[in-house]
Amino acid sequence: MTDLPIHPLSEEHKMLRDTARDFAQKEIAPIAAEFDESGEFPHSTIKKMGELGFMGIEAPEEYGGAGMDALAYVLALEEICKVDASHGTIMSVNNSLYSHGILKFGTEEQKKKFVTPVASGKAIGAYSLTEPQSGSDAGTMKSRATRDGDFYILNGSKSWVTSGPVANYFVVFMMTDPGKKQKGVSAFLVEGNTPGLVRGKKEPKLGIRASATSEVIFENCRIPIENRLGGEGEGFKIAMTVLDAGRIGIATQALGIAEAAYEAARQYAGQREAFGQPIGAFQGIGFKIADMKTRIEASRLLTYNAAIAKEKAKATNGRYSLEASMAKLFASETAMFVTHQAVQIHGGMGYSKELPIERYFRDAKITEIYEGTSEIQRLVISRMETNLR
Ligand code: CAA
Repeated sequence: MTDLPIHPLSEEHKMLRDTARDFAQKEIAPIAAEFDESGEFPHSTIKKMGELGFMGIEAPEEYGGAGMDALAYVLALEEICKVDASHGTIMSVNNSLYSHGILKFGTEEQKKKFVTPVASGKAIGAYSLTEPQSGSDAGTMKSRATRDGDFYILNGSKSWVTSGPVANYFVVFMMTDPGKKQKGVSAFLVEGNTPGLVRGKKEPKLGIRASATSEVIFENCRIPIENRLGGEGEGFKIAMTVLDAGRIGIATQALGIAEAAYEAARQYAGQREAFGQPIGAFQGIGFKIADMKTRIEASRLLTYNAAIAKEKAKATNGRYSLEASMAKLFASETAMFVTHQAVQIHGGMGYSKELPIERYFRDAKITEIYEGTSEIQRLVISRMETNLR
């Protein structure tokens, strides 16, 4: 059983949360709808987030980060996602999917070279695991890294790479020994301008439209041996360890989206009148409000609890897979539930692009899919609880 999630926020936590809230309100809220519509990558606001330290909250200051803890990361990300999930996705990938693995498994030189520009917000990082024919079953990837003296030659295609069209650096997982399945996977750090790294077309998406996603193709892409992250064959464990951290980010994103949709629905239910009274006074709407609020608070506790478990695991080098998967599963399904109800409470206005409610609804869906579907989270949780497979 995990510890009780009671953890008072420090003054530093509160300051960071308030800074993120102010920034999101002043800088992101006015442009979120426009960037959602155009699908353009929000370079300027992302740069400003980097200057505030949001792109490397847990990275030590010596590697360009803010040197804060896992809860600080969640608190700041939640505020950004309350306003715009696209900015949240970019922030989450830089912090966790990209930087976390290098900080945990990288050499001193790798941390300096590959984390510093990303954690300080001067560059964008990406994580490439999924392939056209291997998503949930990540151990069946087909891309190959072949040793050639002091180099590796990378070949293959990676799908659904968040920030793929714009990233300066990539963490890439490829087979070095296909016969060994998961134990034949290795991880590599690749600079975006390496010859042979080709960015595929940008994916047109339902939600998080300002976050750019693409395929990334490797065609005889030659990288030095010192760019291997961890040992040969350690890549799958690195990928999974990093996903545990990433899943807390997605739980936080889902929490932020749900909170935004809830707040709008709560206010609308108190103002909009039908049959002579505010619609929130009807039990049919009031009970929706009750369920939305309760599920959001449960999501928050699971998510903060996972962040605290992650922080504790730094000292013990332990795992927090259970906490991370439970938080992601519950928070993402809550985001879908809450945004669905928020559209319903708003009626026609919930369906209109005049309000951000329909954007919250579209943005929520991806949280049940990426960084492990809800089905994969249930698989991780049930395997850990039963030891059965
Ligand atoms: N931490 C450390 N090690 C782990 C681990 C974890 N969380 N999970 C598994 N491992 C280890 C296991 O202990 C095992 O090692 P041993 O044999 O030494 O014990 C090894 O990894 C293999 O584990 P499994 O046998 O459990 O592997 P599996 O093939 O059955 O897969 C899985 C497990 C949970 C289904 C995994 O494949 C998985 O998480 N799939 C989902 C992948 C995913 O989330 N993809 C989305 C990527 S995000 C993206 O691509 C887009 C983007 O930019 C956001």
